[in-house]
Amino acid sequence: MGVAGKVYLVGAGPGDPDLLTLKAHALLQTGDALVYDRLVSEEILELVPPGVTRIDVGKQPHHHPIPQEEINETLISLAKAGRTVVRLKGGDPLMFGRGGEEALALQGASIPFEVVPGITAAQGTAASSMVPLTHRGVANSVRYLTGHCRADAELAFDWEGLANPDTTLVVYMGLSNIREISTQLIGHGRAACTPVMAVSRATRSDEQRLIAMLGSVTDAVEDAGLQSPVLFIIGEVVSLSKHIGIPFDAMQINHMAAAE
Ligand SMILES: C[S@@+](CC[C@H](N)C(=O)[O-])C[C@H]1O[C@@H](n2cnc3c(N)ncnc32)[C@H](O)[C@@H]1O
Repeated sequence: MGVAGKVYLVGAGPGDPDLLTLKAHALLQTGDALVYDRLVSEEILELVPPGVTRIDVGKQPHHHPIPQEEINETLISLAKAGRTVVRLKGGDPLMFGRGGEEALALQGASIPFEVVPGITAAQGTAASSMVPLTHRGVANSVRYLTGHCRADAELAFDWEGLANPDTTLVVYMGLSNIREISTQLIGHGRAACTPVMAVSRATRSDEQRLIAMLGSVTDAVEDAGLQSPVLFIIGEVVSLSKHIGIPFDAMQINHMAAAE
């Protein structure tokens, strides 16, 4: 058997290539096989030199063209063939990115691997929209949630804990379930007037955001036709964005007015 290669589970960040880590950028230049997801932006793919084998394993919401087991097998067989594999994922590989599952599969097959962290969508969105996820006197904790469970299972959260007004909620993959999430939160005591920011394609040139109240965010998102991927930030911290000085576009102003 030849010398096994190595797999790097690399975070590509939320889309803006300037948010790649130096290590991720270097690996994109030196890897000889790239296995990438739907959320990796075109600008980042353009950084990959010609001649590198590219394998697109992108999954669409509700439609997984390549099963996870097959992706794991692809990584293992490329490494066994001696390749230096860059497994590139949107955001951070270990934040709702199934990086843990891939790491376990690689470990089980005795393939050397390393995780290279990326800026997760929450951090990218917080910076681009100027919403501090925690803020003294406003929010003393933050919780990251998935708004979409395995095989569309029921969202079984600790709704009472999530309704705590001192906690900022960051909802990944929440576009199709935002009505259920907002209804549950209000039903468990979170104020219907809690501000929510919905950000589409954060840090990319076509980023869009709106601010609405928890009680009306579903209609606001539907009216605006926000495109996936969308991240929601729920909590009083959202109202700080207007004080910190990000310019608002027309869409934001409309929904800010609704939230006040
Ligand atoms: C499968 S999760 C992957 C999360 C990723 N590993 C991360 O750390 O950001 C996909 C979800 O991440 C969020 N997301 C990722 N990139 C985003 C972006 N540029 N703008 C808004 N949301 C984004 C969306 O909620 C999307 O549905």
